[in-house]
Amino acid sequence: MKSFKTNSALETIEIGKKIGALLNSGDVCLLVGDLSAGKTTITKGIGMALGVKKVINSPTFTIVKGYKGDKCPLYHLDLYRLDGVNNDFDLEEYMEGDGVCVIEWPFQVSEILPKEYLKINLTRTGEESRTIEVLGIGRYKALEEAL
Ligand SMILES: Nc1ncnc2c1ncn2[C@@H]1O[C@H](COP(=O)(O)OP(=O)(O)OP(=O)(O)O)[C@@H](O)[C@H]1O
Ligand SMILES: [Mg+2]
Repeated sequence: MKSFKTNSALETIEIGKKIGALLNSGDVCLLVGDLSAGKTTITKGIGMALGVKKVINSPTFTIVKGYKGDKCPLYHLDLYRLDGVNNDFDLEEYMEGDGVCVIEWPFQVSEILPKEYLKINLTRTGEESRTIEVLGIGRYKALEEAL
């Protein structure tokens, strides 16, 4: 596991950029942390590294937002409000898709998550301070080590 401490949203975006530079189409990244931990903030940096030009905002009310990027697309999922109504939502399509798939609140769908993924834990340690832990599972171990 790699651990980072940041003291502003901008610093968290910078960590996201470093991670995003190592991600490729077909990769899955799980974001774990409480409300306001910084999951969407770090996704902004991941998107920048993929060459996404649009501003990335929380997809909370839409479950998924797709962005075109110079390197590959970014699929940003937020499963916080996933419920019975949305159960036929085809998540696998995004996770096995042609882009990088970043998922907030992934354990809402633990039974269909891939066996290998990059997990990012974000913890709020103060008003503007966060601890960010990056753990690569399976083939993502190499990515973790490259950080
Ligand atoms: N060091 C930091 N890293 C990330 N965000 C920070 C930091 N310091 C302050 N913030 C602020 O905390 C908030 C994080 O919000 P963000 O939307 O990224 O959280 P989230 O984990 O996606 O929450 P949610 O579960 O509601 O989607 C932002 O307003 C951001 O500006
Ligand atoms: Mg969010």
